[in-house]
Amino acid sequence: MTEPLFIACNLRKTYSQGESVTPVLQDISCTIMPGARIAVQGPSGSGKSTLLHIMAGLDGPSSGSITWPSFGARDSLRPSKVAMAFQTPSLIAPLSVVENIALPLLLCGASDATARTAALKWLARLQLDDTAEKLPQELSGGQGQRVAIARAMSAEPALVLLDEPTGQMDRATAELLFDVLLRLLDAGEAALVLATHDSALAARMRDVWQLKHGHLTR
Ligand SMILES: Nc1ncnc2c1ncn2[C@@H]1O[C@H](COP(=O)(O)OP(=O)(O)OP(=O)(O)O)[C@@H](O)[C@H]1O
Ligand SMILES: [Mg+2]
Repeated sequence: MTEPLFIACNLRKTYSQGESVTPVLQDISCTIMPGARIAVQGPSGSGKSTLLHIMAGLDGPSSGSITWPSFGARDSLRPSKVAMAFQTPSLIAPLSVVENIALPLLLCGASDATARTAALKWLARLQLDDTAEKLPQELSGGQGQRVAIARAMSAEPALVLLDEPTGQMDRATAELLFDVLLRLLDAGEAALVLATHDSALAARMRDVWQLKHGHLTR
C-alpha cells in the first residue's frame, strides 16, 4: 500500500510573545499522498507559510502530531526527501546561481561535476542560462524566485513545497514556469504543495485547500 508523505493530526500552532498569544493554526488534520497537487489559499496572515514550514519539518506544532510515514524522522527530511522554496529571498549570497542550485545535490553526496551539470540543466529548463555565474544580488526578483525553485527541485525530492513562488513574476513567466514544473513532476511521483494568492495557478492543482481563521477546509 502507498504510504502518505505527511500526516498532521489535530495540529495547532500558536506564537507567544510575553503575555500575548497568537493562535495561527487550529485543529488541522491533513494528509499529503505521493503525486499530490495541492494549492493552499487564504488571506494574508492566515497561516499558509506557517503550515508549509511545519510540513517541511522546519517548525513544529504547539500541539497535535505530525509524521512523515514514508520518509521517517524529521531530521532526515532535507534536502533529499522534502524541499522548500521560501516566500522571502533565501539564496545564499556568496554563492553563484549555479552553485546555489548545485548545493542540495552536493549535500546528497553528488560529485562537483554531476551537481554542476544538473544545476545547468535546471537553468536551461527555466530559461535562465545567462544567469549561471551571477550572484543572487544581481538577479531580478522573479529570476531569484525561479532559481530558488530550481534549488528546491534539484535533488529531486519526493515532496516539493513552494511558498508564493510566482509573486514577483508576470503571468506569462509564471505560466511557463508551471508548464515546465508540472511536466517534470508529472513524469514522477513527487508531490507538490503550493501556497499562493494566484487563483489561476491554484486552479492548475488537483486540490485547493482554504485556510481561514486558523481552520483548513477542502
Ligand atoms: N515567527 C513568528 N513569530 C510570531 N508570529 C509569527 C511568526 N511567523 C508568523 N507569525 C504570525 O502568524 C500568522 C500567520 O503568518 P503566515 O506567515 O503563516 O501567514 P501567510 O498566510 O503565509 O501570509 P501571507 O499570505 O502574507 O504570506 C501571522 O499573524 C503572523 O504575524
Ligand atoms: Mg506566507
